[in-house]
Amino acid sequence: MARFLTRLIDAQAFWAKPLGDFNQRWLSALLHRMWTIKDLLHGRWLGHPLHAASTDLPIGVLTLVIVFDLIGQPGAADVALIAGVVLMGLSALSGAADYSDTDGTARMRATVHATLMVVALVLYAISLAMRLGSVEVQTLPIVLSVVGYLVLTAGAFVGGDVAYVLGNMVNRHAFRGAGTKWVALDLGGVDDIPEGQLFKAKAGANNLVILRTGETILALHEQCAHAGGPLSQGALLDGVVECPWHGSRFRLADGHATRGPTVYDQPSYEVRRSESGGGWEARRAEG
Ligand code: FES
Repeated sequence: MARFLTRLIDAQAFWAKPLGDFNQRWLSALLHRMWTIKDLLHGRWLGHPLHAASTDLPIGVLTLVIVFDLIGQPGAADVALIAGVVLMGLSALSGAADYSDTDGTARMRATVHATLMVVALVLYAISLAMRLGSVEVQTLPIVLSVVGYLVLTAGAFVGGDVAYVLGNMVNRHAFRGAGTKWVALDLGGVDDIPEGQLFKAKAGANNLVILRTGETILALHEQCAHAGGPLSQGALLDGVVECPWHGSRFRLADGHATRGPTVYDQPSYEVRRSESGGGWEARRAEG
């Protein structure tokens, strides 16, 4: 079943890919001028993707529309439909912010998701206009809202696919252990850690991005929490590293995310001179 649905979604690539690329261009141009609003929509303030939480509200409320129609409560169905349409619109804003930082297959499937949601929203809007324009209970607006619900469910399925199958807006360090064992740093053939620049080193299985100032070493995991971008290739901005892929920023002192699209902090590491003499060693910082 999953394979069939995936093939069905991916068969939409012929229109979804160019449309997604086009949408990404204008959304990026718009949102990258207003980082504060963009951050708010991603949910960095919440430490959780806002879109994942905000989509539950309209789906729940629009389920009520069907229930109220079924039990013959047209007034209550109208109120639920108005609330559902407004909540869908608000949820689309957070979705658009996340969508603007998708790439590849995730962008294509997110375009299918967004298109289905727009179709559902249009069906609901027509149903609502017909309901409000008539005092009689009509069949067509009820049918339209049921069809809208089916499209909404299909859209939610594809959206879930973007998050759970492709890992969009999922913390890249979700499964990383927080062991406190000191591990020797592999400097990749360099004699010592250079000063004043971002430097990539290996601590066991983990790559770190390191900034050295004298004997003070600040270190984070090298793979960006948002989508795995290489932080050692990013920009160094006053104690903060900016990811080269979508512009997330992390404080080097403790990994705190100071700008999205990431909503997660970056794992931070302690680095010290090796006790066995010569070289450096690192361990994951607690907290
Ligand atoms: S990978 Fe997206 S901001 Fe780093």
